[in-house]
Amino acid sequence: MEKINVSIGFDQRMWQQDIEGSRAHLAMLVAQGIVSGEDGEAIAKGLDQVERELAEGRFDFKAALEDIHMNVEARMTEIVGPAGGRLHTARSRNDQVATDFRLWVRNAADEVDAALTDLLAALIDQAEAHADVVMPGFTHLQSAQPVTFGHHMMAYAEMIQRDRGRFRDARKRMNESPLGAAALAGTSFPIDREATAKALGFDRPMRNSMDAVADRDHALEFLAAATICAVHLSRFAEEIVLWMTAQFRFVTLTDAFTTGSSIMPQKRNPDAAELVRAKPGRVLGAFTSLATMMKGLPLTYSKDMQEDKEPTFEAADSLMLAIAATTGMVRDLKPNRDKLAEAAGAGFSTATDLADWVVRVLGLPFRQAHHITGALVKMAEDKGCDLADLSLEEMQSVEAGITADIYRVLTPEASVTSRTSFGGTAPDNVRAAAAQARKDWL
Ligand code: ARG
Repeated sequence: MEKINVSIGFDQRMWQQDIEGSRAHLAMLVAQGIVSGEDGEAIAKGLDQVERELAEGRFDFKAALEDIHMNVEARMTEIVGPAGGRLHTARSRNDQVATDFRLWVRNAADEVDAALTDLLAALIDQAEAHADVVMPGFTHLQSAQPVTFGHHMMAYAEMIQRDRGRFRDARKRMNESPLGAAALAGTSFPIDREATAKALGFDRPMRNSMDAVADRDHALEFLAAATICAVHLSRFAEEIVLWMTAQFRFVTLTDAFTTGSSIMPQKRNPDAAELVRAKPGRVLGAFTSLATMMKGLPLTYSKDMQEDKEPTFEAADSLMLAIAATTGMVRDLKPNRDKLAEAAGAGFSTATDLADWVVRVLGLPFRQAHHITGALVKMAEDKGCDLADLSLEEMQSVEAGITADIYRVLTPEASVTSRTSFGGTAPDNVRAAAAQARKDWL
């Protein structure tokens, strides 16, 4: 029984929240005249000592006492004497654990938000530094149109900013206090839930005592936001892995974020990126685990819910690590300008620019321009050359109206510079987007 019932091995991680919650509850009990000032003072001192023992790693956790709540209370009562037993008046472990866990998840959401701010700063710095570095843009992982490295970085900045929005949104909704719901039905003592909510930094008490002890939405929302964020990080990680290959050589990472091979001296393995790429499995696994555990549970608290913590803690740890590693890699990343420029021009990447020129200058419908461009691409492909290497005569054999002016639009630089539509990849757009993001998000 002890083995399956015990949670102290993992819920001791919430010891600070447990003490904080007890202090708020105690102050309220004293203010409401439910516990005498004298007993209140003794209990407060006892909690201070327990806190010191925990902070200094001297606390003797007892599995027989099941969880962090009973461990803290029992040790406090040992110090204080029988008066210690008054702390649990008008409280249950059900509202206690709901409160502790909410405080923990709220803090985790704040830490993730701060870490994502660092990542955003790194992405914006890279975008500004490389606003005009051309590189291939892909769809289907096939060269599509040239883009800029800065634009690529800002695409991730957008995702990360949305992630922050999700964590902040979840935080707003979770910031209500379950404390005072007691076991499930409330209490007959004249408690002041507004006061405990305020003391713990909550916006207000939860309205329904049954919901207060039965709800774990805060953790589910945190894990859902974490899953989406981990997915974003893994996409970026995959690009780094790809860009680091000998075939791409788009970027370099220093030894700080790569490892060597024990047998192949030429190798630089992007281990950090690979591990970031792997993390969504754990984070989504945590969401799946918690959602599945909650599914079908009758109101209100059931012991099943003790299993909410391990996946949440693990997912938070994994995400924080993935964000830190990604931030480090973004700062360390050096785009290889020459290789990127060469690749940007390959694969007839300016074919759309050619078609657009035909529309703009010759006034032909886009569909017809697309057809002409297709014929020119085919011609270049057969000759084994780029579009810009076709002679004017060859171009005119397909469309008589083409003039030498067309060569102007066939370089990757000209291509990206022309993409000035809102949200487009033009270097000036990227600089403006980065400046705006720096102002609004950092
Ligand atoms: N260790 C328990 C948990 O984490 C605390 C709440 C126990 N409540 C109860 N009625 N047994 O869920």
